Amino acid sequence: MALSLERLGKYDPKDPQKNRLTDLGPRHFWQYFPPVIQNNYGKWAYHDVLEPGVLVHVSETGEKVFTVRCGAARFMTVQHVREICEIADKYCDGYVRFTTRNNIEFLVDSEAKLDALKKDLQGRKFPGGSFKFPIGGTGAGVTNIVHTQGYIHCHTPATDASSMVKSIADALFEEFQGMNLPAKVRVSMACCLNMCGAVHCSDIALLGYHRKPPIIDHEVIDKVCEIPLAIAACPLGAISPDKTPEGGKTVKIKQDRCMFCGNCYTMCQALPLSDKEGDGVTILAGGKISNRISMPKFSKVVVPWLPNNFPRFPEVVENVKKILNAYAQGANKYERLGDWAERIGWEKFFEKTGLEFTEHLIDDYRLAYDTWRTSTQFKYTDAAWNVSKAAGGID
Ligand code: HEM
Ligand code: HEM
Ligand code: SF4
Ligand code: SF4
Repeated sequence: MALSLERLGKYDPKDPQKNRLTDLGPRHFWQYFPPVIQNNYGKWAYHDVLEPGVLVHVSETGEKVFTVRCGAARFMTVQHVREICEIADKYCDGYVRFTTRNNIEFLVDSEAKLDALKKDLQGRKFPGGSFKFPIGGTGAGVTNIVHTQGYIHCHTPATDASSMVKSIADALFEEFQGMNLPAKVRVSMACCLNMCGAVHCSDIALLGYHRKPPIIDHEVIDKVCEIPLAIAACPLGAISPDKTPEGGKTVKIKQDRCMFCGNCYTMCQALPLSDKEGDGVTILAGGKISNRISMPKFSKVVVPWLPNNFPRFPEVVENVKKILNAYAQGANKYERLGDWAERIGWEKFFEKTGLEFTEHLIDDYRLAYDTWRTSTQFKYTDAAWNVSKAAGGID
């Protein structure tokens, strides 16, 4: 605080280097620890989940700290942050923290404070009726959805982040407040395949996807882009140098080589590709980052494309529910979604979820070979019979 006040009014645009403070780094976390956390740092004996959203950690010294975890929309106003501070001042001596999935955690050191805090949090709603601080996100349920900027702030998205996350979170609200799944289910979202965040390593992942190649703005490309960078940006070598009729420098794109990644647009603003009808949502499943029992896994594409049906994305919600329900019914205790799919076989995953298997899901990029089946081990499914029939096989 002192530092930022000290800087107030000291910026002189005529001499920007004067009074410039730099390389200070973040504040040390220790100064923001509640006393009970400071006193028991490194001495925790065990913890319990008392109920969905409420944890207790017990120290070797016998001291306890109770944590109430609340959902948050991640994008929030200063007004909302002030309300968080007001709650923290009232019950937690001014201390509060945010989790790696952007939930809010309020910490108290007694059960009496805990009950009052929970009651207060549950009573707070926005004028539209949504809970401001829904309690949950612990144990074997669905916690907050890690997501990105979408149309709120980024220039490369193929879909929106906040609205899709709100639609999915509404549909899975019971799972946020419950702990009845075989294991935790991480849902994440990214609005283009830069994959800012965790879509490549989540149980269920939603990803913005284009289906049309970039448009080339021949008139300005040489003025606004470093052309070799655009050419080198393409993972498929679809872009090559070209000349305009007037002899200016530009590029050409082999349309049937382009798979719409948008990487060349990231490098070169004269190659825009977003498109109302073309853009949509891909669903991936089966990723994880922990080393518990099985090694970490990448998530795999299971639904190639769904429309951007704003603002509630009904098709995306429906498909996420199909995957989650089949997993909840079929998986063993402690099995993550990817563990379950690999145990029963992906052909069975498609049968049990009712998702359609199409050619889009077959890897065809460089190291693709290892993802095909080099074995006679598989299980017959209706989908497999249909492929066999379509190829002229036995009826
Ligand atoms: C001998 C090697 C390096 C030298 C001499 C050097 C020098 C500098 C200088 C003079 C600045 C400007 C500082 C200012 O704004 O007042 C700067 C800024 C910066 N450098 Fe380096 N640098 C070196 C290596 C690196 C490396 C290896 C990285 C990253 C991996 C890096 C990242 C940055 C960044 C991000 C800034 C901007 C910081 C800011 O805006 O305050 N530098 N560097
Ligand atoms: C897609 C992922 C990323 C996003 C969305 C992102 C976003 C941003 C944004 C919004 C800023 C602030 C720019 C400003 O206010 O002027 C920024 C600054 C910065 N980012 Fe990133 N970033 C990403 C990845 C990275 C990576 C991978 C690195 C380093 C390896 C990095 C290093 C930096 C640095 C050093 C700055 C400060 C630049 C400066 O001195 O002004 N970012 N980033
Ligand atoms: S995922 Fe893509 S579109 Fe979304 S914020 Fe990151 S770079 Fe931007
Ligand atoms: S969108 Fe991707 S694949 Fe298509 S030309 Fe650009 S970089 Fe290449």
